[in-house]
Amino acid sequence: MNGTQLLNNIAEIRKVAEAEIAAINTLDEASACKVKYLGKKGLVTSVLQQMRDVGAEERPKIGQEVNRLKSHLEDVLQNLQEKLNTQRLEMAVASADVDVTLPGRPRPQGALHPITRIQEEALHILRGMGFSVAEGPECETDYYNFTALNFLPDHPARDMQDTFYVGESHLLRTHTSPVQIRVMEKQKPPLAIVAPGAVYRRDADVTHSPMFHQIEGLLVDKDVRMTDLKGVLTDFLQTLFGKQFSVRFRPSFFPFTEPSTEVDIQCVFCTGKGCRICKQTGWLEIMGAGMVDPEVFKSVRYDPNEFSGFAFGMGLERMAMLKYHINDIRLFFESDLRFLKQFIGRGA
Ligand code: FA5
Repeated sequence: MNGTQLLNNIAEIRKVAEAEIAAINTLDEASACKVKYLGKKGLVTSVLQQMRDVGAEERPKIGQEVNRLKSHLEDVLQNLQEKLNTQRLEMAVASADVDVTLPGRPRPQGALHPITRIQEEALHILRGMGFSVAEGPECETDYYNFTALNFLPDHPARDMQDTFYVGESHLLRTHTSPVQIRVMEKQKPPLAIVAPGAVYRRDADVTHSPMFHQIEGLLVDKDVRMTDLKGVLTDFLQTLFGKQFSVRFRPSFFPFTEPSTEVDIQCVFCTGKGCRICKQTGWLEIMGAGMVDPEVFKSVRYDPNEFSGFAFGMGLERMAMLKYHINDIRLFFESDLRFLKQFIGRGA
């Protein structure tokens, strides 16, 4: 094919292509047309290949013409595709049952209850220290809640905790300590467990609630000492609350630990000056703890000469009150959305 024939050919391709494009109605047709003229084996591409046969002096002019045709068809097809796309979207919007142009209606966002949140945070820290999580029933027997924990039948400690009884032999557990017994009955030392859960007592004021939550801790091994207990609990509390809060250990009494201690943290409401919440003491009692009493080991057939251990039981409501600056424990249980909504999106 000589140069003139090729130029005529280019003009012919342009005419036919324009007529075809004018008749296009769909995006599929537009894509097919693009392939037909501009694809690797398309008509415009084939003209470029035929240029090899024409004389060198004619090539620039023909090259110019082919390129003009190429960019003309690219522009026209591009515009057409955009136009068809817009039309398709408009039709979809017009024919749809749902008006996608309406602003969305956001679903109200929930939040974890502050007790769940503090429990998760405390367990996260304790797991990181090597404790694994155990559980026990809320409805317990007198044996697990008291007897196995060395509360003698006429021991005054049984009166210390006012108990909800369920029939003759069952009660709502007054603390999470019975889980210690259940775990030791099943496992041999060394062991390190924490047991979260609800507990019940006849108790109600701004810092006491008839149902509240504790996390029990128990570690048994050879040569466990009181200094291990103090180190673990100080580290735990300062990780949870921050190093700025002082922690103190007060001598105390529990039938199942000897020696026993109560752990207080500085009152965050009055920074230790004394207020209604801390009953003017500057401190809030947060947990009880101590070295496991040998009598408890005997009730689960551990040899007290071979093993020693420490245990602790902390009140989650107290910890949440401190952490989130809540001054009345009853707010946790009233399900008042105005209270609960304050925890949406708040980091623990
Ligand atoms: C106990 O319940 C012991 N079982 C703790 C323990 C475990 C001691 C292991 C030694 C070894 P206590 O009665 O002091 O101890 O309660 C522990 C924590 O629960 C308290 O420090 C307090 O934070 C919380 N607590 C107690 N009573 C209430 C209540 N009515 N409402 C909310 N929190 C409470």
